[in-house]
Order: sequence, then structure tokens, then C-alpha cells
Amino acid sequence: MSKNIGILTGGGDCPGLNPAIRGAVMRGLDHGFTFTAFVEGWRGLVEGKTRPIGLVDVQDIAKLGGTILKSSRTNPFKKEGAVQKCLDNLKKFKIDALIAIGGEDTLGVATRLFEEHKVNTVGVPKTMDNDLSGTDFTFGFDTAASLAVDAAERLKDTGSSHLRIMVLEVMGRHAGWVALYTGIAAAADWILLPEQEPDIEKMCAHLKVAHARKGVALVVASEGTELPQYKDVKQELDQFGHMILKDRGVGDDLAKLIEEKTGIEARSAVIGHMQRGGPPTLFDRILGLRVGAAAADAVAAGNFGKMMAIRGTEITAVSLKEATGKLKLVDDKWIKFAETFYK
Ligand code: F6P
Repeated sequence: MSKNIGILTGGGDCPGLNPAIRGAVMRGLDHGFTFTAFVEGWRGLVEGKTRPIGLVDVQDIAKLGGTILKSSRTNPFKKEGAVQKCLDNLKKFKIDALIAIGGEDTLGVATRLFEEHKVNTVGVPKTMDNDLSGTDFTFGFDTAASLAVDAAERLKDTGSSHLRIMVLEVMGRHAGWVALYTGIAAAADWILLPEQEPDIEKMCAHLKVAHARKGVALVVASEGTELPQYKDVKQELDQFGHMILKDRGVGDDLAKLIEEKTGIEARSAVIGHMQRGGPPTLFDRILGLRVGAAAADAVAAGNFGKMMAIRGTEITAVSLKEATGKLKLVDDKWIKFAETFYK
């Protein structure tokens, strides 16, 4: 008898989700699967909100940003009775296995459903933050960082005309991968990451030197950078216990600090959610398609409780539990590499 597979996308959207959906459905058709999509992430499973999905729905979506299945940051483990509703709906819609496409949060739920409730889950990793363990890259990151590099270079052009120091604030939450790659690729003069306590004095001294030589200087700052003034500020948390950083304004705060300490005019810009929209890059399309297809293969093989990862150039199945156990953060080797270019 043909299997009916549930599929959903959860958490912050990013380019590559639609290719992943296409990969899973197209390869699933080869295995004779039918699909039931739960819309709006875990909220769709809790509330039993579905839409049919088949060949026609995925035939031309690899080029599209966002997710045709919609998303939310719902955590069923945080809502009384919601997990039971998930289990009931899996029965009601006759779901044999569930493909969850998401980051640490969404896949954390998939892990618990597998470990604690024996649901046949397979995870597909996504996030522009690139902070999932167990995989070298997540789709969404390449597009988001490429867009940020473009923004950074545009900032340098205008900064150069006005002899200013420019600050670009990028997303990434608790991990600095986007800031790191953007800063290195766009030849920033300083990069600030959540993983490293900022040395404001040292940064400002260096910015003065760089500005004197080039007539402009660029700082790329991750939104999660812990400036000294944030030490005692209580930050709002989401349903998964993560800081909501949208109102913090690290870019603006930094530009003020830099201006104060260097005496050089400074401006800041926030790329924000623009980084999450638009068509996926070639890399994110191919990665999304590959991990999506691998998820359908894992279902066919009964290889549950696994996440489809890219290691080197190969797609491989890793334990969901291990992948969601801890975040992948920027390490000292990378920081040292970035500092090579502070001249
Ligand atoms: O996790 C992806 C991400 O874009 C983070 O970089 C950012 O902090 C967060 O999502 C923003 O979330 P929201 O879209 O809910 O404002």
C-alpha cells in the first residue's frame, strides 16, 4: 500500500525551502508516496490545517523565495494539549511518516516527537543562520550572506563618498556565521559576533587607522553582538526560549559609539528580513533539492529520527538528537582568520 507522508516547514523562512519541498515530493513520487502538507509549521499539525501537494504544486518552485507551505514559530511542547493534538491529527490524516523542514527549533520538536512519541520523523535542515550542528551548511545561508555582501559593498560606496564609517547589522541570532562570511567577503575592517566579547576601544583605534588610509571603514555586526550597554537589559524570548532581537538595534548603537569614540561621522543600516527573501542562490537551490530528496529516501528506507546533512560534498543521514543538541557557533579558528584582514 502506498505511504502517505506529512510535510511541513517551520521557523523563520529562508531561500531554499521551496527547492527542499520540491526535492522531497519529486523523489517521493518515485517511491510511490502521496503527500499531505501541514501549513504554517507545527501550528498546521496542531490545528489540522492541511493542503494537498503533488507534482503540479512543486513543478516550478525551485526558483521561489519563501515557502509555499507557510511557516510559524509554534512550539507544540509549550502549549497545553498541543502535542496530543499533533498525534491525533497524524492519525486522522493517516500519516505514515513526517518530513519536517526547519532549523534547530522545528527539528527539536521533530526530535522529541520521534524520541518521546515514536512518530516516524525525518528532518531537513534549513536556516539562514547556518547554526545547526551535524551539517556543514544549511540552505538559506548562502543566499542571505550573498545579499548582505552586496549591501555591505553598497554601504562602502556611499561611505567612501562622505568619508564615513559605515556599520551593517545582519541577522544570525545567537550565531555569527552571516556576519563572519559577509565581513570577510566584503573586506570589512571589523566584524562583531555574538560569540566574541566586543573590544570597543581596540575596534575604534583600528577603524581610525583604516579610515585614515582609505577614507572609509566598514563594520559588519551580528544582531546578537553583546555590547557593554546590553549587560543588564532583559531580552524578550520566543516560544523556543530564543532572544527576539528585532528591537535591539545593535547597528545604530554601534554607529553612535564609534562616532563618539573616533570623532568620525558614522552611519548604520540594517538588512533585516530582506536577507530572507528573494530567489535562492544556485548553491541553496541544489542543497535544498538534495536534502529534500534524501529525506524521501530516508522515509522509504525507514531511517527515522534522522536529519539529512551535507558533509563535505555528500548528503548523509545524521541523528536528529545530536544535530539539535547544541548550536554550531563560530570558533576561534574562524575569528583568527577574519582578523587576518584587519589591516
Ligand atoms: O533564525 C532566523 C532568523 O532570521 C534570525 O537570524 C533572526 O534573529 C530571527 O530569525 C528573526 O525572526 P522573526 O522573523 O521571527 O522576526
